[in-house]
Amino acid sequence: MALSPIHFLLSFTIIISFVACYSNLQEAPLINTYVDHSPSIDDGDTLLFFKNMINQNTNVFGGTQIVNVNDYGAKGNGCTDDTQAFKKAWEIVCSSTEAVFLVPLDNYYLLKPIRFSGPCKSNITVQLSGSLEASEEPSDYSEDQRHWLVFDNVQNLIINGGGTINGKGNIWWQNSCKRNKKRSCKDAPTALTFDSCENLIVENLSIENAQQIHVSFQDSMNVKAFGLNVSSPEDSPNTDGIHVTNTQNIQISNSLIGTGDDCISIVHGSRNVEATNITCGPGHGISIGSLGAGKSKEFVSEVIVNGAKISGTKNGVRIKTWPGGSGSATNIKFLNIEMDNVTNPIIIDQNYCDKKKKPCKKKSDSAVQISNVLYQNIIGKSASDVAVKFDCSKKFPCNKIVLQNIDLQCEEGEAASALCNNVELSYIGHVTPLCASYS
Ligand SMILES: *[C@@H]1O[C@H](CO)[C@@H](O)[C@H](O)[C@H]1NC(C)=O
Ligand SMILES: *[C@@H]1O[C@H](CO)[C@@H](O)[C@H](O)[C@H]1NC(C)=O
Ligand SMILES: *[C@@H]1O[C@H](CO)[C@@H](O)[C@H](O)[C@H]1NC(C)=O
Ligand SMILES: *[C@@H]1O[C@H](CO)[C@@H](O)[C@H](O)[C@H]1NC(C)=O
Ligand SMILES: *[C@@H]1O[C@H](CO)[C@@H](O)[C@H](O)[C@H]1NC(C)=O
Repeated sequence: MALSPIHFLLSFTIIISFVACYSNLQEAPLINTYVDHSPSIDDGDTLLFFKNMINQNTNVFGGTQIVNVNDYGAKGNGCTDDTQAFKKAWEIVCSSTEAVFLVPLDNYYLLKPIRFSGPCKSNITVQLSGSLEASEEPSDYSEDQRHWLVFDNVQNLIINGGGTINGKGNIWWQNSCKRNKKRSCKDAPTALTFDSCENLIVENLSIENAQQIHVSFQDSMNVKAFGLNVSSPEDSPNTDGIHVTNTQNIQISNSLIGTGDDCISIVHGSRNVEATNITCGPGHGISIGSLGAGKSKEFVSEVIVNGAKISGTKNGVRIKTWPGGSGSATNIKFLNIEMDNVTNPIIIDQNYCDKKKKPCKKKSDSAVQISNVLYQNIIGKSASDVAVKFDCSKKFPCNKIVLQNIDLQCEEGEAASALCNNVELSYIGHVTPLCASYS
């Protein structure tokens, strides 16, 4: 079979690479032989293997240039810095008429912060089958503390391949002010950022142990993200799974997300956001906001969360806004959601405040207006007595909030309660719990 020699070669190389890594033998002739040999693939079977691999996964046919990072000097041994090789390979891909950026299977590429910038000459597929590992040296991030991998201004980009992006966040979590109260609060890098991209598909990837946010879509349009596994420990601070900022027409689906913060957070300027078939937990649930921090005017609208399993989280579906802000969160639907062991399954918090970030003034004469929110077919177990909490502002009550077919109980099957302040609410079908009274 054509594949087995390659598999053998790969495994062999990995073993050798590890040996090389830890015994300072990086320039050992054996490795160079392999690395130098692999680029100029002239073996018919090998070529066929790579062609098939690309065709199967991306539907790119003949004439496609495969730009393998190994051809540009990447070692993929997990300890040699491969940043320059990735930069060179990206330049080639971005200026090609048809190209695939290939990160081969079973290799570990150590990368410092890196920007993959467009616009590029043609559509690009990044076939990420191997693993990308973040540098754990904070001084490598001194130019830009907030980003590790960034794709910016790239149009018609597909990124897939079943590979892994590992932010190696431990060092950043330890230094976070949320873990260590004596430290000042500083930003840590987002593992994977898409900035100003249009027509973007991100699929079939694992993103884990991000320094802070795992995946961020910002200032982008027409995005599909699916088949993603996003994970980091429950106690890793501020590690949102998927963060959506000022992005329109984005669908997130079929993904498993469990982190130390929101599974999905949708913030200012986002419109037409759809999340379907999301498994969420641990973490803080699916969140719209926070909005209106620092008296800002912010808008989010047309959000549908349809089909989610949320378990072991602090919140289920949440809308949170800061007192003193303005703007609106409107036309939002939460449909077909199952909760298990969720502390606040349904929550609107118009008095949100994160003291670590900004000082809080509870009494305020403005608020982000929340209206037209439908909760439909939401069932399961609440970890606290209060399964439904609408804590809205007196001057800007929550408007047109609809609960339809809701059944939330406490863990042991006891009745849960609802807390409802300043909300204009209606019920359709069977709803448990009901507000004791509401205005
Ligand atoms: C490039 O991508 C766009 C949108 O994703 C698609 O409509 C177009 O057909 C693609 N072009 C080529 C040459 O594949
Ligand atoms: C994910 O990528 C891997 C490796 O390329 C592939 O074998 C697998 O079929 C892909 N899965 C999906 C759902 O596309
Ligand atoms: C995500 O995790 C599931 C279940 O553990 C697994 O079947 C799937 O292949 C993973 N996907 C990726 C892209 O690693
Ligand atoms: C939901 O997503 C999971 C992966 O998280 C996938 O295995 C499953 O097939 C998806 N279900 C549907 C109905 O698409
Ligand atoms: C409920 O979730 C918490 C995390 O929020 C977890 O520590 C606990 O073990 C879970 N309990 C059960 C019964 O699953």
